[in-house]
Amino acid sequence: MKKKWWHDKVAYQIYPKSFYDSNGDGIGDIPGIISKLDYLHDLGVDIVWLSPCYQSPLADQGYDISDYYKIDPRFGTMEDMERLIAEAKKREMYILMDLVVNHCSDEHEWFQKACQDPDGKYGNFFYLKDKKEGELPTNWRSYFGGSVWEDLPGTEKQYLHVFHKKQPDLNWENPELRKEVYKNINWWLDKGLAGFRIDAIINIKKANPFRNYAPDREDGLCSIMEMLKEARGIGEFLGEMRDCTFKKYDAFSVGEVFNEKPEEIPDFIGEDGYFSSMFDFNETIFGGSGKGWYDCKQITPDDYRNCCFESQRKIGEIGFLSNIIENHDEPRGVSRYLPEGDCFPESKKMLAALNFMLRGIPFIYQGQELGMENMSFSSIDEVDDISSLDEYQVALDAGLSPALALKAVARFSRDNARTPMQWSDEANAGFTTGSPWLKVNPNYTEINAASQLEDPDSVWNFYKKMIALRKNPVYKETIVYGTLEPVWEERHNLMAYYRKGDRTLLVIGNYQRDEQEVTLPAPCRNILLNNYPDILMENSVLKLHGYQVLVLEL
Ligand code: GLC
Ligand code: CA
Repeated sequence: MKKKWWHDKVAYQIYPKSFYDSNGDGIGDIPGIISKLDYLHDLGVDIVWLSPCYQSPLADQGYDISDYYKIDPRFGTMEDMERLIAEAKKREMYILMDLVVNHCSDEHEWFQKACQDPDGKYGNFFYLKDKKEGELPTNWRSYFGGSVWEDLPGTEKQYLHVFHKKQPDLNWENPELRKEVYKNINWWLDKGLAGFRIDAIINIKKANPFRNYAPDREDGLCSIMEMLKEARGIGEFLGEMRDCTFKKYDAFSVGEVFNEKPEEIPDFIGEDGYFSSMFDFNETIFGGSGKGWYDCKQITPDDYRNCCFESQRKIGEIGFLSNIIENHDEPRGVSRYLPEGDCFPESKKMLAALNFMLRGIPFIYQGQELGMENMSFSSIDEVDDISSLDEYQVALDAGLSPALALKAVARFSRDNARTPMQWSDEANAGFTTGSPWLKVNPNYTEINAASQLEDPDSVWNFYKKMIALRKNPVYKETIVYGTLEPVWEERHNLMAYYRKGDRTLLVIGNYQRDEQEVTLPAPCRNILLNNYPDILMENSVLKLHGYQVLVLEL
């Protein structure tokens, strides 16, 4: 495999609105990010991905862009962005932005022009259909609830939005639109960006001709996935995008890709694939239900292990997955993947190591390195996220009581991950001197960066050790390029795998409270990582503490 500059890197996702507020308006901003670059550098982070900070009405928190060439004043200025790129470079760090091009905002100039002249140039930037009384062009349900069709203001037409109605889909079939997208990407790459995380990209190709599918809920609509499953030919767009943009800059691109077909993987992330990498969402989609969040199944430790290994087997050495425990669309990983009542520093470190040592590029989401947990919402009024609000309604419609509907939403709400970063035990977790745009998790007095930086046994310092291990010249080759082989898969509540390269490493986690014994297949030569101060090993019999995780060299 041809080596690439990003293979051995560690990435970190920032949700700018909630990271650090430098001017007291309650909203995180780019100067705030700059002031925390040393914090990230000290942790060992190389690549920083920023969720969108372009000009936006923030209907979907920036995933609705009204000008791709501007920074939203709430986040700062273009000069701030340029300074961030420069400051990162000084530290040998790389900045990625979010590329949101399946849709724009309804406040984008293109959309405004399409409303004024739907038959003109900009009408063809969107999917428009003639409005028929009492009938929708198709029965597809948007990801955020309701029909994907909305009246185009001031016209006799309707436009398509697979997400929120303030996020009209861009018509990728139109070469003029694609040219505009590539121009923008290159404009940013010229500024010194290292690449992009590519949002919702799997939606850019629609099945043609448009048609109805069997309804799957009382609303008479069907999941948008039905249409996407039938769509063919996305590769032509993605290959063109790669060739016209990323490739020329050797940029890093990581796709938000769902439902790729196994035979397509080499095209997506193989050598010269459309993207450098794509996220592994196998764990996050486990237990999903077409009915809604209220009907989703809880994931167990064995399920978690099986999901990870399934993805690893699928990808093998074709390319590199990007591994996550959480992101801005998911609940906190420690609250989700650890059994209820078992969320404490040792178990958080176990989960961290099991995920971090997988083959692929580790992505850490802000606050994950502190073991930040889900929020406990006491009322639906505390929830801001549009998708949570929709799912709350779905649960109510299904007959759940308001209390149970809230509980269902609280488990999966995207706001769990969006609460402000917990910097210290000062007011508002040290995130802002003003009043934060979203409520701070009250556990910030216990869980915060300031106290963890000082404590050698903190979750933060464990992350720092894991990152240092990945970069250790003796083990790097094995951790980055080595194969992954699952072991003891039939064991209950145990996740273990080899990483084999020029060295042989065994990663082993006891995914439960009780002790558990294993017999090592070969003598242990070195203990590279341990979340406990001790290790109980006699000859080759290893007795693991509850939630103990070890990385051993055999
Ligand atoms: C992606 C983003 C999510 C957003 C959606 C629409 O899934 O991660 O936050 O709501 O796309 O842009
Ligand atoms: Ca601010």
